[in-house]
Amino acid sequence: MANSLNGRKIVLGVSGGIAAYKAVELLRLLTKAGASVHVVMTASAKKFVTPLTFATLSGHPVYHEIFDSEHSAAMEHLQVSENADLLIIAPATANTLGKLANGLADDPLSTLFTGYDGTVLVAPAMNDKMWAHAAVQENIRKMKRMGVHVMNPELGELACGVTGLGRLAEPADMVREIQQLLAQQSDLQGIKFLVTAGPTREHLDPVRFITNRSSGKMGYAVARQAVKRGAEVVLISGPTHLEPPPGVQLQPCQRAQEMYSLVMKHLPDCDVLVMTAAVGDFSPAEVQKEKMKKSDQPLVLHFLPTVDILQAVAAKKTGQFVVGFAAESENVVQSAQEKLKRKQLDLIVANNISAPGIGFQSDNNQVTLIDSAATIEALPLMSKVEIADILLDRIKSKIAPSS
Ligand SMILES: Cc1cc2nc3c(=O)[nH]c(=O)nc-3n(C[C@H](O)[C@H](O)[C@H](O)COP(=O)(O)O)c2cc1C
Repeated sequence: MANSLNGRKIVLGVSGGIAAYKAVELLRLLTKAGASVHVVMTASAKKFVTPLTFATLSGHPVYHEIFDSEHSAAMEHLQVSENADLLIIAPATANTLGKLANGLADDPLSTLFTGYDGTVLVAPAMNDKMWAHAAVQENIRKMKRMGVHVMNPELGELACGVTGLGRLAEPADMVREIQQLLAQQSDLQGIKFLVTAGPTREHLDPVRFITNRSSGKMGYAVARQAVKRGAEVVLISGPTHLEPPPGVQLQPCQRAQEMYSLVMKHLPDCDVLVMTAAVGDFSPAEVQKEKMKKSDQPLVLHFLPTVDILQAVAAKKTGQFVVGFAAESENVVQSAQEKLKRKQLDLIVANNISAPGIGFQSDNNQVTLIDSAATIEALPLMSKVEIADILLDRIKSKIAPSS
């Protein structure tokens, strides 16, 4: 990781907090490590440090006016971040976080952020009460759900004279975090992922079906983050309301049998299979050709078990690393461990679907990772995007332990 900054283009966004002076130190460390740093400032940031300071130290003009007669026509807000490897916003004020989390774009920094689809790291800094405010915390959660990385502020003496949580992370720590994120951008290059997501849908008649509450968010997050980290990804998805992540090869399906066929088709080509889909366990013995009529008699339907995809994978796999998910409502870890053994999985992600506010349809989850060596790793409540990245880290360390 030592030279990971050499020749990389970093955009440094500075908003108007008292810690803006620390962005000067951050700029110095980044340029010293060989990065080409382009600075973007809000109007408030200019009250704390002048653009001239950043321009002199970075060797590049500073973008601080959207409507500047010389550069506006060239769409500078898009140009500055073109080919950038990473955008870091330090310090990020409560105001700027609010804009970024909600898609506002009325200053150079927020405009640039909304036009940038690469890796973003924000380092908030503010008074401890501001940081603890529900609105700020909600904005932080929103940003994490978007896949933005957040360096939490530190405990320490604040500019307002009190000691509390709100100090900007140290510039040297930010540099280390940037190096780690840059290294992550291609750490899955050359690895082929097959990911299943969403529910399956079994039709009863032309207008009715049975399905389950899976939203597909976990699988889409795994697929999105894997592509971002350089992997090739085939995403087999049941019906969801989600946009397919850019760069994945989407294979839509409905019935469990269709998902099974697609998994079997793509299994020989993949290195890693991540089965997040909530595959229905039963399908109707018969699909009615015509719509079933309303009746005052009880309706009796017969269901047959669907094909067990993970069982079939266990029989067919030829060295692929296989990850299963276990949504349990009791004895979560024990049930997941039994499933891991029964289905010959390399790793299982267990979650308790009876816990409120997590799991199905939520953007967050609280999961436990269990591997075939019986290592148990309980993760705290976090966004599905964060879980996806940790899961990918663990998969990477298992399949390429030396890298
Ligand atoms: C002396 C001073 C220090 C400030 N420090 C901070 C700070 O550390 N964090 C913060 O969120 N806001 C801070 N503010 C308030 C912001 O400057 C204000 O919310 C401003 O609108 C932020 O604009 P921007 O997000 O466009 O840069 C400070 C204001 C003053 C006057």
